[in-house]
Parts: sequence; C-alpha cells; structure tokens
Amino acid sequence: MKKEQDNNSENDSTRGRLTTRTIAMPADTNPSGDIFGGWVLSQMDMAAGICAGQRAQSRVVTVSVDGMDFIRPVKVGDILGVYTCIEKIGRTSMDIHVESWVRRGRIGIRQKVTEATFRFVALDNDGRPTPVPDEAELPAYAQEYFEH
Ligand SMILES: CC(C)(COP(=O)(O)OP(=O)(O)OC[C@H]1O[C@@H](n2cnc3c(N)ncnc32)[C@H](O)[C@@H]1OP(=O)(O)O)[C@@H](O)C(=O)NCCC(=O)NCCS
Repeated sequence: MKKEQDNNSENDSTRGRLTTRTIAMPADTNPSGDIFGGWVLSQMDMAAGICAGQRAQSRVVTVSVDGMDFIRPVKVGDILGVYTCIEKIGRTSMDIHVESWVRRGRIGIRQKVTEATFRFVALDNDGRPTPVPDEAELPAYAQEYFEH
C-alpha cells in the first residue's frame, strides 16, 4: 500500500452516482472487530443491482464480479456510501463500476475502501436473459438518472 493511501483522501474524487448509504454496525464485525468483507460486498451488490435494474427496467441478476479490491478496512460507526456507474452494456449484460467510500465515525474524513466491476444480466419474467433497452427507450426519470 502506498504511503499516501494512509493519509486523508478527502480530496480524491468519487466515480459514479451515490446509490446507497448505510452505517456499519457492530453486528457486521468479524472476531477482530472490523467489518466483514462480505458485508461490504453485499452492499456493493445491492447498489449495483439498483443501478442495473434502473438501466434494464427489468429483473437483473449478478453473474460475475471482477477486480474486487479491498483497499482499507471499514470500522463500526463508519457511514458507507456506494457509488455506481455503467461501464459497458452488452446485449443482455451490464458492467457496473462500483466504489465504496466511508465517512469515518460518521463525521471524520472520507476514504475509498473498495472497488470492483459487477456484471449483471437483465432477465425477463420467465428468468431468461433479455436485451437491455436503448437509453432512448427508458422512461424520463431513468434517462435523468443516467445523464452524464
Ligand atoms: C445469468 C444467467 C441467467 C446467464 O445465463 P446464460 O445461459 O449464461 O445466458 P447467456 O449465455 O445468454 O448469457 C447472457 C449474458 O451473460 C453473460 N455471461 C454469462 N455467463 C457469464 C460469466 N460467467 N461471466 C461473465 N458474463 C457472463 C454473457 O456474456 C451474456 O452477455 P451479453 O448478452 O451481453 O453478450 C445464468 O448464468 C444464471 O442464472 N446465473 C445465476 C445468477 C444468480 O443467481 N446470481 C445471484 C447469485 S446468488
């Protein structure tokens, strides 16, 4: 880990849109008292699922996770904010770039703690992969959501 990563990263910029926010609670800790990686991963999966579902306007499922990086630990009392943006759209799949940032102890400095790329697949009502619609076909609220 680079030296500067231990310092205040308040001025680093987030990528994507703030999609979920939650607080890390004692029930989510491992025996050492840090937050479980799996808890953070599930927060990222949920946020990516919201983003993918808005883009596909349908059911979506996670099919893969790439480049999962746990950069710094998450501590009890941190506010975890998950940012998402669409990196690539295939026929039925969407690659969502996901970053988690914490506000230490609710009011402290802000630091990036994880990042990864989640691939989701759009499904029809029968659970089969279905094409992701063109952006122009999205309802107005969803078009606004994806405005750059
Ligand atoms: C997602 C799922 C429906 C895809 O089924 P499939 O038979 O592979 O469907 P397809 O071959 O038509 O692939 C659909 C898309 O997924 C992509 N894909 C399929 N398997 C993939 C994998 N392992 N990694 C990355 N992408 C994959 C394909 O490239 C394709 O993308 P495209 O349409 O944009 O080109 C199926 O794999 C599934 O149900 N997986 C379980 C998902 C789940 O339950 N997630 C929650 C885990 S608890």
